[in-house]
This record gives sequence, C-alpha cells and structure tokens, in this order.
Amino acid sequence: MTTSPKTAIILGTGLGQLASEITDSHEFPYQDIPNFPVSTVEGHAGKLIFGKLGDKDIMAMEGRFHFYEGYGMKEVTFPIRVMYELGITTLFVSNASGGMNPEFRIGDLMIITDHINMFPEHPLRGHNFPTGPRFPDMHEAYDHKLVALADEIAKEKNIRVMHGVYMGVQGPTFETPAEYRMYHKMGADAVGMSTVPEVIVARHSGIKVFGVSVITDLGGFDVPVKVSHEEVQEAANAAQPRMTEIMREMIKRS
Ligand code: HPA
Repeated sequence: MTTSPKTAIILGTGLGQLASEITDSHEFPYQDIPNFPVSTVEGHAGKLIFGKLGDKDIMAMEGRFHFYEGYGMKEVTFPIRVMYELGITTLFVSNASGGMNPEFRIGDLMIITDHINMFPEHPLRGHNFPTGPRFPDMHEAYDHKLVALADEIAKEKNIRVMHGVYMGVQGPTFETPAEYRMYHKMGADAVGMSTVPEVIVARHSGIKVFGVSVITDLGGFDVPVKVSHEEVQEAANAAQPRMTEIMREMIKRS
C-alpha cells in the first residue's frame, strides 16, 4: 500500500461513522503500535485507519486519549506528533459536548470557532519541539476558511449549525449546575473533556484545524438535568449522520 494522507480525522464519542466509510483501508489497533497509548473509554474502538475517503488519502484516529484516563499530556497528544511526521496538514476533529448557550438544543452541531483551555497541564509544557515556536500564536486556532466552507455546505444541505467557543476541561465528572453557569459566563458555549490538547499541538506543528462539537446534553439552565455517558452516546449517534455529511463534503472539497 502507498498512501500519503494530508488530511487526518479524530472521531469523538459515538461519532465513528466517517471512519467506517474509509475504503482500501489498513487498520492498526493502538495496542500494536509501539509507544502508542491504548484507549480505555467505552465507545472508543482504538485504532489508526489509513485509506481513502472518496478519492482522498486519509488517516483516521478512531478513539482518542483523554487526560481523565490518567495519561499525561504528552501521551494524549502523541498521535498528533505522529500525524505531523507523516505529513498531515489538515486535521478534522469531533467531540461530544455539553451545551451552555441557551440557543442550543440537544443534537445541534456546533462549529468550533475558538477554545478555552482549562486543562490543569499544558500540552506544550517542557522541552519545545522544533515544529513550532516556544510561544505559539493561537489567534486562529480553528481555520476561518474551513469554518466558512462548513457553513456553505451546511446551508446547501439545509443542516442547522451553530458557532461557538469550546471549553476543554479535565473531567471525568460532568459539571455541576454552578460550573456550567460559570463556564458560560467565562465565554464558552460548550464544554467537553477532549480536543483542546490535540488542537494546541496541531497548531504548534502548523497543522490547520477544523472542529465540530455535537451538543449531547445541556447544562446551566434553570432546571438542572442529570447527564450520563449513555445519553451522551445516544445523542451523538443521532446527530452523527449530519456531522458526517458535512465533514465528508469538506474533505472532498478541501
Ligand atoms: N460536560 C463535559 N463533557 C461532556 C459533556 C458535558 O456536559 N457532554 C459530553 N461531554
């Protein structure tokens, strides 16, 4: 097999469908890759997939590593270092998240326009890798052109998309009602336990990023509601065809 993907995708909780559309695929379970951490959370299969999406070479991470699993930030972001070494220039990420913007509904897709990093350890702490500067710029963590392309495709396909700021937190607890309210006041529209570390390392490596959050639950409103991992997976599954349609088309056109 020869493949030289320029595009990579990381699929979040309940959002693996796009990876199953990859043809001519070669799959590498994480446990077979030297130095790769192994994913433990339910709903994450844990493999690297190389193949074609349409006529584009692609690399997919099915299942990602979360800080709450006990990995250090170097492990959480190790796959991004591998992507850089393999020549990836654009990264598509998805995740499940809790919506705090009162305009959001469960099942909405939120195109990530920016993020707030609330993880207790920075993924670039320590020795600076020469893929980027010691003090990297983050003024356009999420590529504006890719956001515009997503909007265009969503409009064509009549898919409701919201824009918003994603807050990355360590978990594994879902938020208390007071925490949801605080995060919203701080400027976030959605909150989740992933994405931010990977995006920071991708940007430090010059990789362009497009991100989508699927709003799987809502927090911080008048009546506090219970959240469970099962509900998150269910809502992600229900929204996934719309997310997949947008990403598939974006990868085709970009
Ligand atoms: N909070 C944090 N992470 C999440 C949530 C949430 O409400 N929903 C899905 N992942």
